[in-house]
Amino acid sequence: MYILGIETSCDDTCAAVLNDDQILSNVISSQTDLHQKWGGVVPDIAKRAHQERIGPVITTALKRAKIKIEDIDLIAVTRGPGLGIALAVGFNYAKTLAKKYNKKLVAVNHVEGHLLSVFLKNSKGLPKFAPIFPCLGLTVSGGHTKIVLLENIGDYHVVGETLDDAAGEALDKSAKLLGLGYPGGPVIERIAKGGDCNFLKLPNPLPEKVNFNLSFSGLKTSFYYQIKDWSIDQKMEHLSDLAASFQNSVFDHLIRKFSLVIDEYQPLSLLASGGVLANTLLRSRLRQLAKSKKLPLYLPQLKNLNTDNAAMIALAGYHQFNRSGPEPVEGLDISPRFEL
Ligand code: KG4
Ligand code: ZN
Repeated sequence: MYILGIETSCDDTCAAVLNDDQILSNVISSQTDLHQKWGGVVPDIAKRAHQERIGPVITTALKRAKIKIEDIDLIAVTRGPGLGIALAVGFNYAKTLAKKYNKKLVAVNHVEGHLLSVFLKNSKGLPKFAPIFPCLGLTVSGGHTKIVLLENIGDYHVVGETLDDAAGEALDKSAKLLGLGYPGGPVIERIAKGGDCNFLKLPNPLPEKVNFNLSFSGLKTSFYYQIKDWSIDQKMEHLSDLAASFQNSVFDHLIRKFSLVIDEYQPLSLLASGGVLANTLLRSRLRQLAKSKKLPLYLPQLKNLNTDNAAMIALAGYHQFNRSGPEPVEGLDISPRFEL
């Protein structure tokens, strides 16, 4: 089955073509340059850029996959969660295409896309593995931080989630406090290298062992108060120590909570995904954790499958279609707060 995926939930305009679970093309048009000078995503700018780019991005994805739109069997588009006016651009485009070419359509949960991104195969059909369930998933991006028990593909239980900021959002905000660029996660990763991660003492959020939720706003507030009276020179002198301290406190919290949930639910495998998993240090800390628990760990194969992409949406759409068939195009709408 050939699936066209479309994703515009935030600031990346994305289209991809899959043959079942195998990627034939994966096109991502990033808007980072447009939002950078504002220090965050500006909804109106995102909407306009999506409108300009969505057509060409889809054309490029079909061309790279060597597939004509007529040969597509299914269109999968992100329904939510995400930024309403951004989601609407891809969603309306998908509906128009479905009507014009008489194609089947499914509307997909973005977080499910992130979870399933670890199961995507490249053009050679690799990696070849049959996932073992139940699998405990940690998915961490700029918009969400969730620990999800996957009994199977399509059968999900959210067992922990952030009560306030997402982990990526906390990294983005701390980068802003340090006067670094947007998005903050990759900049913090670069600057933190060689820094002293014990330079600042930051709190241990939600320390109770029976609480599987997460919280990042206290870390951010503590970080803010500890450096708010510092001069620019002082901050510059200790920039890598500050970045390393904050990054480490975010990762410590993620690892500690994930470890607690593993012990509680005793899954047979682990997965981790989402934009923040593009971070090499976090990936290696998760590998260590999986090794200590003697469990296999599935991670997205390529770096650009961690951050937003349409290949993961196409894969989630493929499984959703196999479970419950297509959706009626008329009356179908976006859901900016779509729950998993
Ligand atoms: O999954 P994603 O592209 O979009 C959302 O669904 O939110 O994730 C974006 C988030 C941003 O907060 C960004 O700072 C973070 O992922 N991120 C990183 C890295 N690359 C992206 N965080 C830490 N280290 C990175 N290398
Ligand atoms: Zn995302």
